[in-house]
Amino acid sequence: MSVITSIEDLRILAKRRVPKMFYDYADSGSWTESTYKANEEDFKGIQFRQRVAVDIKVRSTQSQMIGQAVSMPVAIAPTGLTGMQHANGEILAAKSAKAFGIPFTLSTMSICSIEDVAKETQNHPFWFQLYVMKDRDFIERLIERAKQAHCSALVLTLDLQILGQRHKDIKNGLSAPPKLTVANMINLATKWRWCMGMLGTHRREFGNIVGHVKGVENMSSLSSWTAQQFDPSLNWSDVEWIKKKWGGPLILKGIQDEEDARLAVNSGANALIVSNHGGRQLDGAQSSIKALPRIVQVVGKDIEVHMDGGIRSGQDVLKALALGAKGVYIGRSMLYGLGAMGQSGVTKALELIRNELDLSMAFCGKTDVREVDSSILLPGSFPPWV
Ligand code: GLV
Repeated sequence: MSVITSIEDLRILAKRRVPKMFYDYADSGSWTESTYKANEEDFKGIQFRQRVAVDIKVRSTQSQMIGQAVSMPVAIAPTGLTGMQHANGEILAAKSAKAFGIPFTLSTMSICSIEDVAKETQNHPFWFQLYVMKDRDFIERLIERAKQAHCSALVLTLDLQILGQRHKDIKNGLSAPPKLTVANMINLATKWRWCMGMLGTHRREFGNIVGHVKGVENMSSLSSWTAQQFDPSLNWSDVEWIKKKWGGPLILKGIQDEEDARLAVNSGANALIVSNHGGRQLDGAQSSIKALPRIVQVVGKDIEVHMDGGIRSGQDVLKALALGAKGVYIGRSMLYGLGAMGQSGVTKALELIRNELDLSMAFCGKTDVREVDSSILLPGSFPPWV
């Protein structure tokens, strides 16, 4: 590919360069993928009001998320197995986010460990996403490790106590590292860049877990690990326990329902993320962008509302901000950049999104992203759910 001008270009390149099982892992929703597709599709029904002859010479995309300065209100979402899209993927994405001035969120199910990311980014604060497992000693240690690494927010995921079925992962025999089956060998033979990268790193397993949990030396299969270790009994009293143990800024991820949003407020968390896990869990759940305005209406005054799901452009970011999000997260948009070109691909994704956000905001007659509200959306073109 010659010139990259969109996230879609990065996706196409990533599909070429990343082994099939890991590309498919990222580009999957659960079951029929209807929620995964709706997350992207539902942005398209929202239209802007074009304004003209407004002085748009000086503009800013700077804002804050949970009181922390961001160069644009876009954080990198936690994504599992990021270090399998590209060697050292989490470290590269964290470095890119640091240079760009936005938060990087490290997944519990990352390949590079908390300590790896902290060391390689010179202890620049990042956010840590927590999955709650049955082994509470391990969770306590994980929280302690996040504190030691100067993480500046804990993102607690509430919508993955059990794993939604993604057909492709089963068919591909997803594992990290990949098993050397004939099918995988044939596929890897066409991915020389990826293989070279992987040969040059020792980070090929779940770095936060392997070596940190007694009796777990080999946990290459995400689905069997999840089924065995994740705690399906997770409930609001555990949220309280985690909040106390952590003691810092807490973000609750996976809220789609008004009642849960109120419970999130009552928990004392700093922010919630309207999210259906990228359409990877409850197939048939409403898209995040549709759920967002309802949640903002109910709790927007009481808690900071963020969203993720379906963001593939700066225009999408702008629409989410217009509908009341204080910040958004990109998962796949970042992974496509990473899989396509490593750190420079992540930076490219961020640049594309910032440029689209900046110009589209200006076309709507706004010069400061903090002033964006629903007045930039075309009345009457509002989707019926608003
Ligand atoms: C894990 O977060 C997944 O969605 O696979």
